[in-house]
Amino acid sequence: MTLATAPTSRRAQTDAPLIDPLGARWSPRAFDPAAEVDRELVRTVLEAARWAPSAGNSQPWRFIVARRGTDVFAAVHDALSGWNRAWAGSAALLIVNLAEVVDPDGHPRRWAMYDLGQAVAHLTVQAQHEGLHTHQMGGFDGPRLREAFGLDPRFEVMSITAIGVVGDADALPEPLREREVAPRRRKALEELVLIGE
Ligand SMILES: Cc1cc2nc3c(=O)[nH]c(=O)nc-3n(C[C@H](O)[C@H](O)[C@H](O)COP(=O)(O)O)c2cc1C
Repeated sequence: MTLATAPTSRRAQTDAPLIDPLGARWSPRAFDPAAEVDRELVRTVLEAARWAPSAGNSQPWRFIVARRGTDVFAAVHDALSGWNRAWAGSAALLIVNLAEVVDPDGHPRRWAMYDLGQAVAHLTVQAQHEGLHTHQMGGFDGPRLREAFGLDPRFEVMSITAIGVVGDADALPEPLREREVAPRRRKALEELVLIGE
């Protein structure tokens, strides 16, 4: 695998110090179309998800792991919405994130989506630590994926994560190239804390 360092301009301009993978994380659309992620590294990022906390330790996260160049990747890529389809094909991996929203006995899992989000967050931080970048997507055709993979209705298709090595922003079509280099924005910390310090 070739490692690329994110341009420093993409780093978070933080109001308080962060550990490096969090400060360096951002969601590129330009991925290096030649970069591969080896099997051990795929296991490592999934392991980070596996060790996330969950309600009652229910671990309701499930994943479809698609490597570029495979039929599974093509099926996931085909289900992406137009703009996402335009850039995400260069990622080394597309991972479909599923939440088991109903348990095997038919009881709803109240926290499944929350837990899945947390597992994916762990995965993104581990990936960043390994020199990879991630970009999550909500823009895709869920029913199409459901049909393509024959998914049990107990699983909700929540999101797709593109993973790979950062590529050249100039390879993106407009307006994606412009967005790739635009300043990153966040609400002020004070806006987030409703009550308390
Ligand atoms: C649940 C979710 C859905 C998203 N959907 C899309 C998407 O469909 N297409 C896209 O390009 N980015 C998508 N994003 C990426 C966000 O736009 C991005 O995380 C946000 O603008 C903050 O930028 P940063 O991750 O670089 O800090 C999504 C992110 C999340 C967490």
